[in-house]
Amino acid sequence: MAASVRFARSRDLDAFEKIENDADRLLINKLKPDDWAAAPTGANRASEPGFILVVELHDGHVAGFVHVLEVDGICHLEQLSVAPGDGRKGWGRALVEAAKIQARKRGYHRISLRTYADIPWNAPFYASAGFVEEEPATQFHRSLVGIENELGLDRYGRRVQMVAHLEAPGP
Ligand SMILES: CC(C)(COP(=O)(O)OP(=O)(O)OC[C@H]1O[C@@H](n2cnc3c(N)ncnc32)[C@H](O)[C@@H]1OP(=O)(O)O)[C@@H](O)C(=O)NCCC(=O)NCCS
Repeated sequence: MAASVRFARSRDLDAFEKIENDADRLLINKLKPDDWAAAPTGANRASEPGFILVVELHDGHVAGFVHVLEVDGICHLEQLSVAPGDGRKGWGRALVEAAKIQARKRGYHRISLRTYADIPWNAPFYASAGFVEEEPATQFHRSLVGIENELGLDRYGRRVQMVAHLEAPGP
């Protein structure tokens, strides 16, 4: 079986929490925070409006996921995580591209996200995937800024909002 990016199934959900917590070690090692919020469960993510895509490798294990929220007509990439043991093989990029395609299929012309400006696998990576910085301009995005402020995420580096403008699907 070749690797594939597909929609998450209920049997995938249990894997997400560990993938995200393990992947976040990359950020924790770099940012050295006093504390770091643990990942939500996969079931919690699946209960939110939107979609989740996973990359499944040839042996059937899930290497990573992308969770995209659909709220108030806004499409927002909420979380991207790839297990460190499967990292640097292009799966993160494949998940972002698949999320953009799925967002466009659902009629969105843009997909946003929030991330760290100066972490190489955050804003610079997203810039290489077609995202550009923008200011939060909706109630939804301002509420995300508020949550980040409560968590104190900006203590560890500049947070930015980014957006990719989506092409119309091909014929
Ligand atoms: C971000 C993340 C999903 C990337 O997954 P991945 O499968 O390793 O990504 P890819 O192999 O597709 O690499 C994408 C790009 O990210 C950058 N990158 C990834 N890991 C990196 C690292 N350890 N150091 C520097 N750059 C890195 C590179 O630019 C890379 O592109 P390149 O290989 O062409 O140079 C993964 O590192 C992760 O889960 N990180 C922790 C959580 C996080 O920061 N999520 C994103 C913010 S929501």
